[in-house]
Amino acid sequence: MTTIAIVGGTGHHGRALARRFASAGLAVIVGSRDPQRARAAVAAWPARGSIDVADNVTAVEHSDVIVLAVPFASVDVVLTDLHAHLRGDSVMIDVTVPVTFTGGKMAMAEPAEGSAAEHIRSRLPDRVHLAAAFKTLPAHLLEAAGEPLDCDEFVCADSETARRRAIALVELLPGVRPVDIGPLSGARFIEHATALAIAINRRHKVDAARFRVVGLA
Ligand SMILES: NC(=O)c1ccc[n+]([C@@H]2O[C@H](COP(=O)([O-])OP(=O)(O)OC[C@H]3O[C@@H](n4cnc5c(N)ncnc54)[C@H](OP(=O)(O)O)[C@@H]3O)[C@@H](O)[C@H]2O)c1
Repeated sequence: MTTIAIVGGTGHHGRALARRFASAGLAVIVGSRDPQRARAAVAAWPARGSIDVADNVTAVEHSDVIVLAVPFASVDVVLTDLHAHLRGDSVMIDVTVPVTFTGGKMAMAEPAEGSAAEHIRSRLPDRVHLAAAFKTLPAHLLEAAGEPLDCDEFVCADSETARRRAIALVELLPGVRPVDIGPLSGARFIEHATALAIAINRRHKVDAARFRVVGLA
């Protein structure tokens, strides 16, 4: 069975993904800087599937796939802590979006590497396979188990191993079609698409804007 660690699994997006993956039959380890916080968080969730808790390092050491679900501003610190503990065959799925909200105003941080995903790539050991996915789906929709998501989710990677894993994970979500957009540099477009969805939500006073690509076979 695949074991998947969610680094930042106590957060909104991390916990939504953790619960979805556990429901789909994966063994999930919810990672946190504080395992007590993870334990308290998981205890409050409806019981479903195999969910364990650990500090982020232990979670990573015991998993095949790592989902990085922390705020972009904390990525450097988190990756520094994890660096020595990442296995040679590890796959990391980056879900971060470098948006900031100051006084209610949304802005994109513009990482020098071009995107959050490329920034993360530059801080990972070469041996780790990286893909970007789950960047545009809002966490509250993911959390609403049973709600049809009925949308596409974009995936990109330079590593074929990571691309295949990310696509397989997206396929676990009922009603979500993975759309492979190519190399990891495509994360620039995905991350801006998330900002676009947020802007649409705000303009139209809704909360579920997401994407469906037409014209694909
Ligand atoms: N929310 C969404 O709808 C959504 C959608 C798409 C993508 N994303 C992306 O997913 C990522 C997580 O989003 P979120 O809404 O779940 O964020 P969040 O709730 O603010 O944070 C997620 C978790 O990250 C950990 N964390 C927070 N600050 C940290 C720090 N300084 N150092 C280390 N760990 C820290 C915390 O876990 P512990 O305190 O337990 O360690 C926290 O529970 C973000 O990059 C976001 O852009 C979010």
